[in-house]
Amino acid sequence: MSRWAYVNGRFVRHGDAAVHIEDRGYQLSDGIYEVWAVVDGRLIDVEGHFERLQRSLSELRITPPMARRPLELVLREAIRRNRVTYGLVYLQVTRGVAPRDHAFPDPMPAPAIVITAKSINRTAADARAAKGITVITMPEIRWGRCDIKTIGLLPNSLAKQAAREQGAGEAWFVDDDGLITEGASSNAWIVDAEGVLRTRDTTANILRGVTRKSVLGLLGEVNIRLDERAFTPEEAKNAREAFITGAGALVMPVVGIDGSPIGDGRPGPVAQRLRALYIRNAQTSNS
Ligand code: PDD
Repeated sequence: MSRWAYVNGRFVRHGDAAVHIEDRGYQLSDGIYEVWAVVDGRLIDVEGHFERLQRSLSELRITPPMARRPLELVLREAIRRNRVTYGLVYLQVTRGVAPRDHAFPDPMPAPAIVITAKSINRTAADARAAKGITVITMPEIRWGRCDIKTIGLLPNSLAKQAAREQGAGEAWFVDDDGLITEGASSNAWIVDAEGVLRTRDTTANILRGVTRKSVLGLLGEVNIRLDERAFTPEEAKNAREAFITGAGALVMPVVGIDGSPIGDGRPGPVAQRLRALYIRNAQTSNS
């Protein structure tokens, strides 16, 4: 089946899609991105991702390339053309093309936009969730503005590769105070030894996960006490259960950390319940 990408105003065959060699995203990571999950062909958490997109652009002073409505239509068209029922839509906006110079170009070029959509094998994703993943911990080496979803992802990429080489599915960054910040591409959660649900508060230097926020909104349906407070790798080791959230993982149980099992080494009831609730909500939302 042919894949399609949207590049600066038109859909082109994925294999032919290209950007300029002096795109500032390519040369300076001067750009931002968003990722929407797609479940049953629908965009999930549409508003939350649009809000964060707007915020990331404005924090970097990049002009929005398109108005909200037409952009949403293009995202849906990307899903349709690529026949995605379960998967992801990726959107990237860079400051545009200009001769290489660290400071902003003057005049400002038009921003460059790229959208792709890809399918994920749902059976494989469900099987992964049924088994749970393990995580490793890594020193936090990222910059001070992790709240902006920039395309500068080298530390995240190195962390994920380290995880892969150790047979783990995610890496959790640990800051100078010995506290976990978040995952390389997800937010981190535990149900601690006292049975309290913990995830780091978003005043910290982390991404304000859209899935994280939606999951917080589901807690009324789960009988658990919440404390938005950071935790240590030791607390995670002694936790009853753990999980990650993100547009890629949705809600994914974590069953081990740095080689030690968490709880009984199997997906915990809170993670499983929240995953089921999150997917059910996605299926019944009207987007
Ligand atoms: N990553 N933290 C980081 C560092 C992330 O990259 C992501 C998402 C999240 C979770 O955010 P959300 O729930 O809004 O997806 C947290 C995306 C999926 C990615 O990089 O592909």
